[in-house]
Amino acid sequence: MKKATMILDKDYVIGRIDPRIYGSFIEHLGRAVYGGIYEPTHPTADKNGFRQDVIDKVRELGVPVVRYPGGNFVSGFNWEDSVGPRDQRPKRLDLAWMTTETNEVGLHEFCEWAKKANTEVMYAVNLGTRGADAARNVVEYCNHPSGSYWSDLRIKNGAKKPFGIKLWCLGNEMDGSWQMGQKTAYEYGRVANEAAKVMKWVDPSIELVACGSCGHDIPTFGSWEYEVLDQCYDNVDYVSLHRYYGNPTGDTPGFLARNMDLNDFIREVVAVCDAVGGKKHAKKKLNLSFDEWNVWYHSNEQDREVWKADKWGRALPLLEDVYNFEDALLAGAILITFLKNADRVKVACLAQLVNVIAPIMTRNGGGVWAQTIFWPLMHTSKFGRGTSLRPVISSPVYDCKDYEKVPLVDAAAVLGDDGCVTIFAVNRDTEDAITLECDLRAFGSLKVSEHILLHHEDVKAVNTEENPNEVRPKKGRGGKAEGGKVIVRLPALSWNVIRLK
Ligand code: AHR
Repeated sequence: MKKATMILDKDYVIGRIDPRIYGSFIEHLGRAVYGGIYEPTHPTADKNGFRQDVIDKVRELGVPVVRYPGGNFVSGFNWEDSVGPRDQRPKRLDLAWMTTETNEVGLHEFCEWAKKANTEVMYAVNLGTRGADAARNVVEYCNHPSGSYWSDLRIKNGAKKPFGIKLWCLGNEMDGSWQMGQKTAYEYGRVANEAAKVMKWVDPSIELVACGSCGHDIPTFGSWEYEVLDQCYDNVDYVSLHRYYGNPTGDTPGFLARNMDLNDFIREVVAVCDAVGGKKHAKKKLNLSFDEWNVWYHSNEQDREVWKADKWGRALPLLEDVYNFEDALLAGAILITFLKNADRVKVACLAQLVNVIAPIMTRNGGGVWAQTIFWPLMHTSKFGRGTSLRPVISSPVYDCKDYEKVPLVDAAAVLGDDGCVTIFAVNRDTEDAITLECDLRAFGSLKVSEHILLHHEDVKAVNTEENPNEVRPKKGRGGKAEGGKVIVRLPALSWNVIRLK
């Protein structure tokens, strides 16, 4: 049998894991909000119209932070439209997604929902069609206790206590031609800096994310980050990364290697951050917010049909990718990559959370179910808290279209504060099981207490409302402990969570 080895030591440390790497994203897009988290006529709806069955699933997934309200949507959004009496809120054309936004769910409602869903809000301000003034006002509205125009308006609108939003995005994908108010790096860097300054003057405790490039493979990648950060380095805390992958040609080995690209992307952005920091002799280091990542391609064709049939409709069924088993394997590999870069990746958001390229799906008036990609995020969020260890891995490799020497086994290890070690491992081999031999000599006598396995014979298998358990985790075979080593069998094409106590 093929074999991979992994050495772990308490002193080989990558860094403390920021739980916010298990975040997600809700945009006013498609059925994410209307028909997703909010459906007042649904049998499980609470008094605010939020679906309790969806809240339960979000809690089960365990996302510590949710980015909101966009995405492309935010670049044309007036946050003031989303507060005050609901029946007086304007209906607006949303030019990002060619739909109509009714503003039935706004800032207060979303903060209320987040509390129930046991998550924090990461709020994006509009730096596309708007600027520093609207940005500082919304910080004052959300976070200032009272005694000023905007904070008193929040109180009048029913929230005596400030929302206390800590994490803010300075716009979204501002280099994208599809963005309302697209900017050059210099233009964006300047407006991001000015917005950041005044937002922090209102509330110095907030943290700010500047927009990095909207992609890794675009000509301006790198120079965009450099020039933007040259303008705003001192006043921001993170730079954003966004990345989506697809497998339209059915090349499973190539698709499962895409986290190699993600890893390069992360290392390159870290290098640019540090280059700008070096140039400025800065004491502070900028970290990364990978605030959009996922597989996204299944629904592209369907979206064109939806728009053809109903441009400017409300809550259209857009970006409703149905995820298969191989998508879950890539999601797992991506989460492993975040753990291996835990020293610099401090926030990451699976885009998105409900219905729109999402781990959670709903039917209007009907059920809620977990897509395949739900599981790796749930597992890492639940068991991947603590310190990310630097594993020394040796694995058989393969070549594919874009990469040479892709390790068949990719893995990360987390030392929990309770002393337990959890290994997350993907076997990308399409044919063979691989034995993973973990050398744990520095940990004494750890044993496998639990082995969770996600595997399906068919990489194209999906979960549906009728068959929600087609792809779901099962108990793995566990492993044996032998002379300071733990040996586990990783089936071909599998996601594994190995808990050691
Ligand atoms: O998540 C869907 C969209 O992808 C977001 O609105 C945008 O930021 C990105 O291009």
